[in-house]
Amino acid sequence: MAAKVISGKEVAAQLREQIKNDAADLTDKGITPGLAVVLVGDNPASRSYVKGKEKASAQAGIYSELCELPEDVTEKKLLQIVEDYNNNPSIHGILVQLPLPEQISETKVIETISPAKDVDGFHPISIGRMMTGQETFLPCTPFGIIKMLEQENITMEGKHAVVIGRSNIVGKPVGQLLLNNNATVTYCHSRTKNLSEMTKQADIVIAAVGRAEIINDSHLKEGAVVIDVGMNRKDDGKLCGDVDFEKASEKASFITPVPGGVGPMTITMLLHNTVLSAARIYEKSHSQ
Ligand code: GUN
Repeated sequence: MAAKVISGKEVAAQLREQIKNDAADLTDKGITPGLAVVLVGDNPASRSYVKGKEKASAQAGIYSELCELPEDVTEKKLLQIVEDYNNNPSIHGILVQLPLPEQISETKVIETISPAKDVDGFHPISIGRMMTGQETFLPCTPFGIIKMLEQENITMEGKHAVVIGRSNIVGKPVGQLLLNNNATVTYCHSRTKNLSEMTKQADIVIAAVGRAEIINDSHLKEGAVVIDVGMNRKDDGKLCGDVDFEKASEKASFITPVPGGVGPMTITMLLHNTVLSAARIYEKSHSQ
């Protein structure tokens, strides 16, 4: 069976139209959604993500502000900048690009971001709300994955989803969101024994380990849905996922490519969260 390729690019483009309309409606009401992005140091991957976020914000009619700080910035200074954005009425979403240099505690930075502006969904309050099924900002990559599945009418209820990877940004939250959607969820990771025996039982495989093309047809059951969150560089410099696309396509029913799969969805959900945040802040100020 040849797998259907899910184009994250196309799904993202559709969603971005709606986001753009919502941002324009808010602007008409006098509140232009605003996103602050903080970039510390000069990590090329981080810089490239941040550029992508700025460009996408502009296209959606979202005001964005980039705060670039040197690699040796103090934690105190960064926390003060975050506080200033918390109190800045033209900013509705705050994103501090990770990873941060060693002298700075990521935990402290994330906990300083106001949960009302936590468009990354990384604050423990946001995570707690997600785990208890309350309304909150959902982390962008996991949220984008769920949107893609919904858009393709792939049911999660009653399905066995195997998540490979347990990062705070992707693995753990995507498993939680699948569970919230009534899937049965298994987490696998670097210490899992017999990975392929686990993944072979999966109706849905989420590959989020960060190792080039480690998942192939031998890991899959016929008709599995394969979502590839990997962003790896091969020796020749080419971008590739955690899944061997050609081989896995022979068994999968649906598969996401890299690039053009999950990546465009992540930025889209960031835009969505920023517009949602502005709308919530608007509603709050007009209901008092
Ligand atoms: N680094 C890699 N992905 C992300 C993300 O989604 N948000 C932030 N803040 N940093 C990241």
